[in-house]
This record gives sequence, structure tokens and C-alpha cells, in this order.
Amino acid sequence: MAVGIQKKVRAKAKPVSCGSEPSLLRIEYPGKKSSEEILSYPPGCYSQDSRYNGGKNRLYHADNVGVLAHLARDKDVVGKVRLVYIDPPFATASEFHSRKQAHAYDDHLIGADFVEYLRERLIWIHRLLADDGSLYLHLDERMAFHFRVVLDEIFGEGCYRNFITRKKCNPKNYTRKKYGNVADYILFYTKTDSYVWNRPIEEWDMAKALKEYPYVDEATGRRYKKVPVHAPGERNGETGKEWRGKLPPPGKHWQYVPSTLDELDAKGDIFWSSNGNPRRKVYLENSEGVPVQDIWLDYRDAHNQNIHITGYPTEKNPDLLARIIKASSNPGDLVLDCFSGSGTTLAVASRLGRSWIGVDRSSEAINTTLHRFAYGTAPMGDFVGNKRKLENTLFFDKVTDFDLYTEDKLMAEPIGYSRGAHSSAVIA
Ligand SMILES: C[S@@+](CC[C@H](N)C(=O)[O-])C[C@H]1O[C@@H](n2cnc3c(N)ncnc32)[C@H](O)[C@@H]1O
Repeated sequence: MAVGIQKKVRAKAKPVSCGSEPSLLRIEYPGKKSSEEILSYPPGCYSQDSRYNGGKNRLYHADNVGVLAHLARDKDVVGKVRLVYIDPPFATASEFHSRKQAHAYDDHLIGADFVEYLRERLIWIHRLLADDGSLYLHLDERMAFHFRVVLDEIFGEGCYRNFITRKKCNPKNYTRKKYGNVADYILFYTKTDSYVWNRPIEEWDMAKALKEYPYVDEATGRRYKKVPVHAPGERNGETGKEWRGKLPPPGKHWQYVPSTLDELDAKGDIFWSSNGNPRRKVYLENSEGVPVQDIWLDYRDAHNQNIHITGYPTEKNPDLLARIIKASSNPGDLVLDCFSGSGTTLAVASRLGRSWIGVDRSSEAINTTLHRFAYGTAPMGDFVGNKRKLENTLFFDKVTDFDLYTEDKLMAEPIGYSRGAHSSAVIA
């Protein structure tokens, strides 16, 4: 750990603000198309399934690249999507089956083919996002690091916010000579510097609070911790001068002007150590909890027999989606998941009062989503022997206000246009 005074030295480098300049670092590979070429893809054509007519939300059974191009021509959508969460295939070179052993989807693209396939979709997503919108891209160790570079190219490096590490499962008893892999990653980018952000706070659990706030004020009984009253950086003004005969430590300044420090002291909010050093008392009662950091340990995917699931492979923990949706959108906002699988994002968005658009090209995914909306989710244990006990289902996810669209035969493509190996190679 670095100790002592850290001085930020940014030789020649200036802070990059979001959207101000293109990233100079690029990832290159054969077959990489220009953004212009990708944005000239024709839109797909879709027919509404007359059995569903809920109006507010839309579920597309289709390849997402055509849907994204189609949505980019829809004035109710383009520039209006507040939040995109996507959990695409992870380039695992495998096939996925549901708990009922139905084929769900193939994840066969790897390397440059995978990068280009996902990059195409991300370029369209960037176009659809509102100026105050956010993208969360969920990947694992295979491709997350490549996409830090790809997203810097598409969004601009100043629009990068976090590289979140999620604990995805319980520890594994590996026999291989390597560390157990329990993490995957969520890259968080925003379209501009001004974006919706409802800071997530983790509420105190009592044991943690007592450890963090170990002192009790004798006069009032209030629990507190002690924090410095100085901050990094030297100042020439009042906060750099003596207070009560003491200068701030070298390289620091007082956090408040002397008159404010006097007021805090008069209220009993300054603690004086035995050698006369002041510290500020921060009270537990004024803290809502701990702001959420970029390591998320509490959102493992289904890991015990009581957890409710749909049985779709790789379905994500609904609480993970709730955290993201609450942090980066407000009720009434439009949320897009164009790799929607079992519909986790869509069900949670509905529950939280957001509108949504979901897309998946797998019939199993769409059927699972429709089943989830009608019958909810069931405990993992109930999938044993394929017998789902309906009395155990959770009707939390009941959703009726949506339309279902299915893909028509692709429109004739313009002369000279090639959809390319990347988009067509993996139709499920
Ligand atoms: C990892 S799963 C998503 C799981 C989802 N987050 C959930 O909680 O259930 C990835 C999904 O992307 C879908 N998919 C892959 N490529 C697609 C494409 N080009 N267009 C539409 N869906 C696609 C697959 O069918 C699969 O359902």
C-alpha cells in the first residue's frame, strides 16, 4: 500500500472529460469495420404477435443487431434509453442448455470474431442512449479487458466510470494448479459527464457499525469515529494558517476556516488527543451506511436450493439488476437489455416502475421470459426431475403490459452491403 503524501503528477496529461476526444488507444484486428459501415446496417422488420398487446414495453424475438438498427429509427427510443444492461455470451466456445435440457443458445464466437460481433451492437447502443444514459456491460475474464479498450473507443475514455468485480459463485474446490475463479466483471460507462446517478448505499449492519464507530460521546451517548480535520494540499488562505496555535501538517490544509473549527469545537464535535492534536467527531446517526464500492460480493447467481430461478442457463441474480437499475435510472425511465435471456432485467425493471425493451434471438429465452411473466420463478430444487411445483413459484415477476414482436424475413439488403461473418455466424 502506498503511504505518506500522494502528489498527483500528471506530466503533460490533462483530465479527459467524457465525449471530448476519441481514445488514442485502439484494438485492431482483421475484419474490423468502421462505425459508419456498422451504422449503415438495414433495420430488421418485425410483426407483432396478436396474443400480446400490453403496449408499454416491448419484447423482440430476433437477432439484436437488426432490432437496434430498427430502434435507432424510432423517435420514441433513439436518444431516450436511460439505461442499458447487457449480459452477452462470454466467448466460452460452448453451448448452453436449460435445466429442462432444452437448447438455449450457442456461444461459439471467440477472439476477434467475438470482439467485432459485440462491438457492432455497442456502437448501436451508444446511438440509442440518452445523453444522461448509462451502459453496464457484463463479461468475464475472457473478454472484459478487451472491452475496456473497445468501450473507450466507442464512448471516449473519459466516459469510463467503473470496472466492477462481482463475486459470481461460492468458492470452488479446484484440483487444478490455479486459484479458484469466482469473479466476473461489469463495465460501467456513461454517454456524457452528466448522467442519472442515485448513489447506492449499503446499510450498516450492527457489528460493522460498532467497529467503524468505536467511541461513545460521554455527554450525549452518541456513537462516533474520529477523522482528521485536515485535507491534502497546501493553501495560502485562512485554511493554511495557524488555528489554536497549530499549523496544519506539512502538505495539508485545515478542512474548514478557523471560525468554523471554533464552532465545531464549541459544539463538542472536536476531539483533542492527549498531545493536543484535533480530530473531528463523525457520528453514526448521521451516516446512512457505506457508499457502494466496485467489488460486489452479495450478488452470486443462484447458489442454493431455495433461490428462485427460471431454469434458463446463465440467468443473473435479480438483486444485482435491482442495484444497477436503481442506481442508473429513475421510475418511468426506459431500460434496454438486448441479450435478455430469461428476462431478469425486464422483470426487475417492471417491478421498479421502469419501461423496458428486451431482445433475444433464442426461442428458449423468449419462452422462458413469457413463462416468467405469467408464472414467476420457482426454487432451484423444484427443477429436479423436471417437476416444477407451481405452488412454490414466486409471482413477483408477473408482467402483462408488453407487446411481443417476432422477426420477419430480412429485408432485401442494399447492393454492396454485407452483414459479414460476425453477425450471421451464430444464429441460435
Ligand atoms: C448470458 S445470456 C443472458 C442471460 C440473462 N442476463 C438472464 O438473466 O437470463 C445471453 C443471451 O444472449 C442471447 N443472444 C446472443 N446473441 C444474440 C443476438 N445476436 N441477438 C439476440 N440475442 C442474442 C442468447 O440467446 C442468450 O439468451
